[in-house]
Amino acid sequence: TNRTFTMIKPDAFGAGNSGAILEMIETAGFKIIALKATRLTEELAAEFYLVHKERPFYADLCRYMSSGPILAAILEKTNAVADFRSLIGATNPENAAEGTIRKRFATSIEANAIHGSDSDENALIEGNFFFNAFEHQG
Ligand code: GTP
Ligand code: MG
Repeated sequence: TNRTFTMIKPDAFGAGNSGAILEMIETAGFKIIALKATRLTEELAAEFYLVHKERPFYADLCRYMSSGPILAAILEKTNAVADFRSLIGATNPENAAEGTIRKRFATSIEANAIHGSDSDENALIEGNFFFNAFEHQG
């Protein structure tokens, strides 16, 4: 087994969809290792999404990600990173497949309900951004 990191973003958390989303995640076979409701300041969002700093949507993304509380989690499953990216669906909900979390809950390419790490290396970095070693012992 291995791990991935996720955030239920401010749009989905604020709309009260985190229970339904966690149910989809557990039904898909992911084990919740660590979980917390928290929030990002604009500065923390800028640090988390630093890889996107040259992208035209970076400032908007940082404002949006700090606009309200989020749910951060570390998840465990065989093939966690790739399987979780399949479960959440395409970045733009217009392109997200039926049955994916973004198809069901995303409202725009920006307010797209949920984050999923894109590599094992980033899953570790992102998990450590939110949780200390004791919290992600599993
Ligand atoms: P994450 O799991 O959140 O990393 O999404 P992703 O890997 O599917 O997309 P990517 O890493 O390319 O972009 C990060 C986030 O920036 C997206 O999830 C969106 O919230 C936002 N984003 C991406 N593309 C656009 C865009 O063209 N316009 C706007 N406004 N936001 C975008
Ligand atoms: Mg990404």
